[in-house]
Order: sequence, then C-alpha cells, then structure tokens
Amino acid sequence: MADAFIQHPGEDQSNDLRRRVTQTEPLTLKTFTPSLALLERSAGSYHYTPEGRKLADFSSGVLVANLGHNPRSWWRRVIDYLGIGHLQDAGEYVHAAPLTAYNAVTPLEVQANERLLANIRGEPGGSRMEQVLWAASGSEAIQKALWAAMAQDSKRNIIVATRGGFHGKKGLAGAITGSETDKERDPRVRFISFPKFECADVELRRQAIDLELYQQELDKLSSEIGDEICCLVTEPYLGGGGSYHPQPEYLQLLQQFCRDNNALFILDEIQSNFGRTGPMYAFTHYGVEPDMVCLGKGLGNGVPVSACVGPAAVFEVLQYGEGSDTWSANPLSSAAVLATLDEFESNDVIVRGKQLSPIIEEGLVALKTTGVIENVRGEGCVWGIECAGIGSLEPEEAANDCVEACYRGDAQGRAIHLLGPLAGRVLRVSPPLTMPEDELREYLEVMRGIFANLRLQTR
Ligand SMILES: Cc1ncc(COP(=O)(O)O)c(C=O)c1O
Repeated sequence: MADAFIQHPGEDQSNDLRRRVTQTEPLTLKTFTPSLALLERSAGSYHYTPEGRKLADFSSGVLVANLGHNPRSWWRRVIDYLGIGHLQDAGEYVHAAPLTAYNAVTPLEVQANERLLANIRGEPGGSRMEQVLWAASGSEAIQKALWAAMAQDSKRNIIVATRGGFHGKKGLAGAITGSETDKERDPRVRFISFPKFECADVELRRQAIDLELYQQELDKLSSEIGDEICCLVTEPYLGGGGSYHPQPEYLQLLQQFCRDNNALFILDEIQSNFGRTGPMYAFTHYGVEPDMVCLGKGLGNGVPVSACVGPAAVFEVLQYGEGSDTWSANPLSSAAVLATLDEFESNDVIVRGKQLSPIIEEGLVALKTTGVIENVRGEGCVWGIECAGIGSLEPEEAANDCVEACYRGDAQGRAIHLLGPLAGRVLRVSPPLTMPEDELREYLEVMRGIFANLRLQTR
C-alpha cells in the first residue's frame, strides 16, 4: 500500500490528484514508477505538470509518441481525415466520419489498409505483407497473429517464443511473455534462448556473435518437434525484458529455422515500428523478411491502435468474425494511422531519428563516469541503461532513485520524465524522434549532473 501514497514536496495540485487517483483506481493499473508524474499538457518532447513544471520526455509515453506529443500538422491531418474541421458550424450534429462502424466499412479503413501495406511493402523485407488484421492494443495484435498461425494446420500447435521477451499480458500474448519458470506453463509454448551477455553493452554488440549454442538448441527442437511447430515469435530486441539488442545474425538464424521447419516467422514490432530503431521497421536493418509483423504503439502516435500484418493465405483460415471486435479498424484509429504515415512519408522524421542516435549513445555512455550506470545498450532512439548499485543501495533501489531524481530535476529546475525500471534495474531512454538535437544534448547532460549528484549524496 505504501506505493499508493506517492507524494512529492511542493506539488500540492499533483499530490491531490495522486491521492484521488489512488482512491478511484486500483494501483494495478500502473506499473510502479516512483515519480507517478501528473501530466496535464504535453507538446513536442515535453510534458507539463499542473504546477507548470516542464519535464523532458525520455519515454515518448511508452515508445508511442515517436513524432512527439501533439504535433500541430498531425492533429490537422487527423481532423481532416475525420471531417470534423467544421465543428463550430450550426446544427446539433456534425456531418463527419462515424466514430464507430462495426461490421461496416469506412473509406478511412480502406485507405489505412492500402497506405500501411504500401508503406511496409516498400521497405526491404516487407514483401510478404498483403493484409492487415487490425486490433486495439499490442497484446491483441499478438493474439490475432497467433490465432491465425495456430489455425493453419491442426497438427501444428506449438508456438516457439524467445525467452525473456515481452509481448503483452493478456491471453496468448501473456503465455509467450517471459519464460517457462515465471508462470504456469502453457503446454503449447516452447521457449528458446535469446542472446543477452553477447549484447550486454553497446561495445559488446559490435563484436561478432557466436551462434553455435543457439543453432544447437534450434537443431534439437527441429529434430524433436519440428513438424508440430506452427510459428516462432520474437521481438527484434528484448524491450521490456531489459533492452537487449542482438546482433542481426541471431534473427536471421531464427528466420532460417522457420523456413526449414515450415513455421511462420512472426516479428513483434509493436515497440520498434515507425522508426524507433532507425528505419521505419526493424526488420529492414536486421536483414530479415518476416511472414507476419505485429505493429502498435507508434503506429497511431498516441491513438490506441495495433495491427497484425501478413499474407492473405495465412489469414484466410480465420472465418467471419473470428478476428473481429468492437474497436478494431475504428475510424479514429484509421485516421490516426493515416496522419502518422503522412508525417513519416512527407517529413524527415526518419532522418532526424537517425541523427539523434549517436547523440543519445554518446550522452548515455558518458553516464558511466558517474558510477551509477554499468551498461548501455540500444540503437536508433531506443536505449536502456543498466544501473549499478550506489553506495549501500542495491541496483534496483538505485534505478528507482534515478527515476525520482530525474523527475525532481537539477538546481535549475530542468527535469526528465522516465518510466520505472525494466527488468529491475534498466532505465529506458527513448525520446521522440523529433526532439531537437541541442535540447537532447542539454537534457542528457542534465541527466549526467543529476546522476553524479545522486552518487555524491548516496554513500
Ligand atoms: C514488444 C511488445 N509487444 C507487445 C506489447 C504489448 O502491447 P500492449 O501493452 O499495447 O498490449 C508491448 C508493450 O509494451 C511490447 O513492448
């Protein structure tokens, strides 16, 4: 219960709202984050608290606001797509796109299908993508991909998943998350090893990976149950599992395993899509051609939407209604996807994101000098910093103290919004792809100052 009463000095309005939210929502709705920031308004790469404090957003929501928060041109496009630009006109109702069109079709939905497919097929590795099975959250997109994969052949019902991955908490997405030891095992799921020590730090990742052990594990699986496997699911990198970005050869090995065993290769790009790792989709620079790709988070830049994309022949085994639900392909989400695609296709977002990457790397590697950070790993605009213990503090406590110290800010009131640690001690650093370079440099330096100060204070 202690966590339910997070309060911070000098924040009367925020503290009041924190108190009221704990009365009106079960705490399980949030993952513990010691700041429990009150975000009243947001613009670009910044959040503002009810007290008017400015927080640089190093989380992008949770890798959602790749374009930044509330870009004016993006909102204009959403409004135009929905046809609600004339809200101030007289009349009780506005003639606009419906907000719900269950079991009907909207022109927006068709346009979103065609535009998303053209975008993904236009990228190296996207050629298998023919249809979009929409959903409303990441775990639902995974669930739908697995339903399709499992329905291909009744003799193949084994799902291979990479150990330590995060695919969501609900249903089959939950069953393939984590490992065989941390949950009651779903007999249909077999976990395989994902590289960690080989990419525990950005320097290590630059070295060649020895795939021998991984190959042996896969060979054993092939010979034991190769003809029972319907699919293999992995993230390009372990995101929620602690930010482990493997050498591309590892994903290529998994793809070969799938091809050899006639299993579908499903890539969970819910976190990595729309420029997070550099290119539009991670499959491009990991050099793979997945059979199905799951998208989410940045896909709608804040409007809840996700999708499973893949070959028509794979989806056709699902009958009318098996993949339907209230919100999938709703017009607001279609408009958001279209507006987000417009921004990526007509602006230099990808180029800007790629330019931020070395700045983030340099700034994060510099944090090691504070003694607070042990390892740095990541790519593009998605990074993880692994905390060391500070003085008598265990790494887990130190990581939480870092989040809180960043929230409180430096002597000049410059503060940073971070999420609670991943895998106990890894802090995610993932600013919007559009954060101005000088501001990013400044806030990385602010972070270094805050960590150095924390180190001095904690003995
Ligand atoms: C890689 C990945 N897959 C799936 C999910 C689940 O998405 P959601 O929380 O929208 O269900 C997440 C969420 O963090 C994720 O990072």
